[in-house]
Amino acid sequence: MNAPTPQGLGLNPPSFVKNAKLIAWVAEMVALCKPDHVVWCDGSDQEYAQLCDLLVQAGTFKKLNPVKRPNSFLALSDPNDVARVEDRTFICSKDKNGAGPTNNWVDPDEMRKTLHPLFDGSMKGRTMYVVPFSMGPLGSPIAHIGVELSDSAYVAVNMRIMTRMGRAVYDVLGADGEFVPCIHTVGAPLQAGQKDSTWPCNTTKYIVHYPETREIWSFGSGYGGNALLGKKCFALRIASNMGRDEGWLAEHMLILGVTSPNGKKYHVAAAFPSACGKTNFAMLIPPKGFDGWSVTTIGDDIAWIKPGADGKLYAINPEAGYFGVAPGTNTLTNPNCMSSLGKDVIFTNVALTDDGDVWWEGMGQAPEHCIDWQGKPWSPSIAKETGAKAAHPNARFTVAATNNPAIDPAWDDPKGVAIDAFIFGGRRSNTVPLVTEARNWVEGVYMAATMGSETTAAATGAQGVVRRDPFAMLPFTGYNMSDYFQHWLNMGESIAKKGATLPKIYTTNWFQKGSDGKFVWPGYGENMRVLKWIIDRIENNAKGQEHAFGVSPSYEEINWTGLEFSSDVFSQITKIDPSDWKSELNLHKELFSQLSYHLPSELAQVQTQLATRLGLV
Ligand code: OXD
Ligand code: MN
Repeated sequence: MNAPTPQGLGLNPPSFVKNAKLIAWVAEMVALCKPDHVVWCDGSDQEYAQLCDLLVQAGTFKKLNPVKRPNSFLALSDPNDVARVEDRTFICSKDKNGAGPTNNWVDPDEMRKTLHPLFDGSMKGRTMYVVPFSMGPLGSPIAHIGVELSDSAYVAVNMRIMTRMGRAVYDVLGADGEFVPCIHTVGAPLQAGQKDSTWPCNTTKYIVHYPETREIWSFGSGYGGNALLGKKCFALRIASNMGRDEGWLAEHMLILGVTSPNGKKYHVAAAFPSACGKTNFAMLIPPKGFDGWSVTTIGDDIAWIKPGADGKLYAINPEAGYFGVAPGTNTLTNPNCMSSLGKDVIFTNVALTDDGDVWWEGMGQAPEHCIDWQGKPWSPSIAKETGAKAAHPNARFTVAATNNPAIDPAWDDPKGVAIDAFIFGGRRSNTVPLVTEARNWVEGVYMAATMGSETTAAATGAQGVVRRDPFAMLPFTGYNMSDYFQHWLNMGESIAKKGATLPKIYTTNWFQKGSDGKFVWPGYGENMRVLKWIIDRIENNAKGQEHAFGVSPSYEEINWTGLEFSSDVFSQITKIDPSDWKSELNLHKELFSQLSYHLPSELAQVQTQLATRLGLV
């Protein structure tokens, strides 16, 4: 691939790059990876267009029909590079206990010895893009800067959508500002004259974090969270370490604003495991019966939350775009999302229709014919015969947050928004009620810590197995999970000490199934009914019903206008079944014995109280 821009080629940085540490690090990485060219990205529209053209020429991008999907592209990945690779993701802290039992750990010196020969010459025949990015509004006290060096133009253009990327970041960085160095290679050097693949990658993959030195090294994958290093690697794994050391929170949470008919606004941060509908919840449209209510999106995946001078917790969305799961998204489940996808989108691993548009399972009427995510002909009859999917279940769209018609006016506010409530939601076909409020912060931390969820395609391609996913952070906490629980407890204590009101904590489960195997709760926009109850609780307008696990709504406390939902069915999805909970508690105990090193004693106490309330001790 030729270098796209004539200016900024080579080792000499353009005049607007002043940061000595950055210049030295780029020189060091160039010496190691040996790219043919270096391009210092400025984030301009012109640069984006040039890179997209280059990707079209290389066959990585297919330009979509400009009438149906203006300025949009489709990329089809290597079939072996379709998702995050958790088993190849490492937290290389000095001490094994620093990473804890939920992370893969390798001694950092040993890992450096392994990676060095892999990175040596890894970019031969390719261009290294220097991608400066701010996670969060430029210059915000809650934001932090990273620089990704990548030999993938696909990564550079995705990063331009997903982060505040470009020249202004160099300005904020100045001569001596701090940044998180992120080095990424697809691990596929090109020999002279060798034809490139449309999705270069390597069967060997390493996604490596050094928490002490705040570095990220990624080898072998060009896909999503493995390669767009601002997202999971920096904004969660490295940032969770920064947050622990500096007294703030880096969380796998959407952030939404909800405004009542009398104009009062609340902010809710909600953690759900990957592909459990975070984007849908963040873009929720209130259903019938909620005239005058509105929901607006601040973020759909990650929240950085720092205490303000008033003691309240202020959150920003560190990202500037959405890298969302396409299958299942349609105009009924998420109309705001569908209108976000009208133009300026990069699609990855969805199907290409004969008229140059895109399609995925769950989008609506299937086309009679299309090209599937592996580039093969697909039709409903082929699907019936072979089970082939038109789109990969983890197919994605990359789109700027500003495309969202429900974007919150404060989404880019450097101050962030004050959080009123946290929600932790698992995907469970039984046991866990629709919504439960924790009686206090510690009980809320217990609920979040013991959250379980049935797995989805985002991580491994496997679906439907229940795994404990504390705080929806299992693959993303960059240090020992028990220390992370302790950090949450400490944060609660310090907010309380400052005399600020602690956000209330809830756990939700939209996913209970009936004996017919179907979801009982209608979900999507109807989740507004639960959100409204949460606001009623914040305002002391709903008494709730206390049970062993916490406080859930009575049937009468939910606004049912426009939805037929009987009180019997409601009891079915809000009940605490003693025998289910006996097994559930055993699973909580199993988790705690796995996490016994540094497990906060307060959480063990909540467990004992729960067992007592369930009549099990
Ligand atoms: C994501 C994930 O892509 O959680 O957001 O996997
Ligand atoms: Mn996510």
